[in-house]
Amino acid sequence: MQAQIGIIGGSGLYELFGDSASEHKLTTPYGDPSGVVTIAPVAGRSVAFLPRHGSGHRYPAHVIPYRANMWALRSLGCRQILAPCAVGGLQPQLGAGTFVVPDQLVDRTSGREHTFYDTGAVHINFADPYCPHLRQSILDTAASAGQPVVDGGTMVVINGPRFSTRAESRGFAAAGAGVINMTGAPEAALARELAMCYATIALVTDLDAGVDGERGVTQDEVFRVFADNTAKMRTLLLAGIAAVDTARPCACANALDGMTLPFELP
Ligand code: ADE
Repeated sequence: MQAQIGIIGGSGLYELFGDSASEHKLTTPYGDPSGVVTIAPVAGRSVAFLPRHGSGHRYPAHVIPYRANMWALRSLGCRQILAPCAVGGLQPQLGAGTFVVPDQLVDRTSGREHTFYDTGAVHINFADPYCPHLRQSILDTAASAGQPVVDGGTMVVINGPRFSTRAESRGFAAAGAGVINMTGAPEAALARELAMCYATIALVTDLDAGVDGERGVTQDEVFRVFADNTAKMRTLLLAGIAAVDTARPCACANALDGMTLPFELP
């Protein structure tokens, strides 16, 4: 079974297609992906869905098998990845329920398997971590659907599983970041390391501790707000599939040109 476009579902989005999808249990040189991949046709494209945290949220952000997930999707044929996720807002205007399509990322994670290239000289260009064409297709889809979306901004990715202290959060905000989460890295870099296009659709579920004057972030509100907005996210994703240019008029496909890879890409 082959797929062209992959969707990696975040907290609260564990399933996308309903009963019409076929199920695929895959394994990779990096172990098993987070969960069973489901594949279904959407708008004439074959689309694969993988729940990032596995069923029942088995894998918290810091132990997600990110390499296996990206390898599995590429081995199915996926070359373009849409990655919804829950984020905290670091600026007061980015309140719960806001959709953001970030254009920059700051990786503050540690101890994760963050690369496929532990041997040889393979250094990808990651100046712009998200595929500009895939980002634009999400923005265009949102505009046509009348769904307000913030275009751009920096996403800080912390290791978790705890949320940030107020001081950490204020520091990220003062440095100009817009949103914060725990899964955006190394996922985006691993996609580029396999020459895949990748863009994220971030849903703000809370104001982070440095912005929220009172209690700080709770897990409950993150899951509740994401659940309240799942229908909108699903609509955006499914409509977005039709807008994706599978010809890939971007540099992502050439990310590895001229480099000697230690293995063949799937
Ligand atoms: N995911 C959702 N909200 C978050 C926050 N405030 N910090 C880190 N990850 C999050």
